[in-house]
Amino acid sequence: MCGIVGYIGKKTACPILINGLTALEYRGYDSAGIASIENKKICVMKDKGRVSNLNNIEGIDNLRGTIGIAHTRWATHGKPSKENSHPHMDNSETFAVVHNGIIENYTELRKFLSDNGYKFLSQTDTEVIPNLIHYYFTKDTSSDENKFLKSVKQATTDLKGSFAIEVLSNLYPDKMITVRKDSPLVIGKGSTGYHIASDIPALLEYTRDFYLLDDYEFAVMENDSIKFYNSDLIEHNKEIKNIEWAASAAEKNGYEDYMLKEIFEQPTAIRETIGSRLKLGEKCDFSDLDISKEYLSSINKIFIVACGTAMHAGLTGKKFLENLCNIPVEVDIASEFRYRNPIINEKTLCIFISQSGETADTIAALKLSKSKGAKTLAVSNVIGSSITREADYTIYTHAGPEIAVASTKAYTSQIVLLGILSVYFAEILESSDSKVLENLKKDILELPKKIEASLNTKNEVKNFAQKVFDEKDVFFIGRGSDYNVALEGSLKLKEISYIHSEAYASGELKHGPIALIENGITVISILTDETLVEKSISNIQEVITRGAKTFIVTNQNILNSNFDAIVKIEETNPLLSPILSVIPLQLLAYYITKEKGLDVDKPRNLAKSVTVE
Ligand code: F6R
Repeated sequence: MCGIVGYIGKKTACPILINGLTALEYRGYDSAGIASIENKKICVMKDKGRVSNLNNIEGIDNLRGTIGIAHTRWATHGKPSKENSHPHMDNSETFAVVHNGIIENYTELRKFLSDNGYKFLSQTDTEVIPNLIHYYFTKDTSSDENKFLKSVKQATTDLKGSFAIEVLSNLYPDKMITVRKDSPLVIGKGSTGYHIASDIPALLEYTRDFYLLDDYEFAVMENDSIKFYNSDLIEHNKEIKNIEWAASAAEKNGYEDYMLKEIFEQPTAIRETIGSRLKLGEKCDFSDLDISKEYLSSINKIFIVACGTAMHAGLTGKKFLENLCNIPVEVDIASEFRYRNPIINEKTLCIFISQSGETADTIAALKLSKSKGAKTLAVSNVIGSSITREADYTIYTHAGPEIAVASTKAYTSQIVLLGILSVYFAEILESSDSKVLENLKKDILELPKKIEASLNTKNEVKNFAQKVFDEKDVFFIGRGSDYNVALEGSLKLKEISYIHSEAYASGELKHGPIALIENGITVISILTDETLVEKSISNIQEVITRGAKTFIVTNQNILNSNFDAIVKIEETNPLLSPILSVIPLQLLAYYITKEKGLDVDKPRNLAKSVTVE
């Protein structure tokens, strides 16, 4: 939520900042702004609307400063407007700040500052930050050369909540300070200077060498130097990390949208995620996990906790773990889990799935589980992300950067990784027949090829999309694993096409929802479990009788002509079927949204990384 960018170096900052904001726009896109320093004066240019609007602001082309900060906003406090856009300055216009996160005690801080004569021009929580920095700065009458840093540190000590901030001051025109707590921030070392951003893909064009800031760690950049300080302002050295993602991974590479590109990248994403972890005739390799047999044998309960699509991947993860390892698994939504006092102890393993690794609720749920004595395992796509730094164990999907707000390749990669992890646990625990495991491995290795067949349904899916794109309500139904996929298909459709959609377990239809089925309503069914096909077909007939249009995704040979569209996918192990059956649903959401002429990659009200509660 919200994207921040910064640059200090040899080049003019403004174009670099706008470029960075454009790359980060998936984090928020209701207003944007930049600040740069010229002739010892901070120039702020900002407005509501998309990043591209910045180019229309008079004088922006004349900004020549080589230091600057920038922001693309996802509004929390105060509607999208010029006043509420970042950067924000203190009353004396000495300090400028961009901020990602939420300051929970901003009302209290605003009152404190108002009582001390400060005025506020916006409704944002952020505006307290530059004013607090100014308050501490003016209170310090010393001529300490670290006075700027000290004031930033004092101000951040007062803040409750989450923040990643960048600060400029006209008194220190060659210096930028950044700090974070529970909100992402990375610093890239480029050939012409330092680039700061909320996440790595936005900077791949400039560098692959990154400093990943820890909570309450301060970075002070001045000309071509960088210094790091801990929360007591003691200076320390910091390791630079080389991130392997190719620069082109964050580009559209000829596709019309990131979402389409990412849907079509799934064979590669799965291949990369399997990597060398799984080979036929050999035990799975998670040696980097360092989980002992003794510990695994002691686990009597597993929680899988995540949000949105990642939680849906967890539902399939539960099936793997319960089937192969015989350990009961509960899947929960992170925002519920963290406040419901879950029963956890040292015999509980808690798995947290997060593509971004920055989702506030998932991180909070992880911290809670740790505090109750459980071991925690993070599944993430972003190296060094916050969740991976908190967890006892981390495993990575290797899906490459996911830029479209709607998650696609991360979902299928998460399922594959949970599948391989379950096989690995089962091998250690000897909880499944080795032949069953070997067959499953073979099926996992065949997935990339079979995904191609799912992708080949694109024309049939597009035809159906053209028929139903102006629907108001759509239902998704399925049983077992197919129900889990129905949940994901429904989420995909509603988030990008704004069509109201619901997912139900097919057997639940008669317990209420079927009352909504009437002439012309679209019902999408997933049918991959041969043991349940007949029952599911009966449910579909019931909705057809009531006038529904039907779209079926199946791997079965269904001889029935009264469905409006049947899309055929490949057969696989039933545990893996969600990876193949979700793809036509991703494509359906995509083509319906295109048909409606909407922005597929940046749906309204959403942001890629939900770093606030
Ligand atoms: C939906 C979607 C979201 C995310 C959710 C969790 O397409 O992308 O539902 O899955 O916000 O995000 P991560 O995985 O980054 O924790």
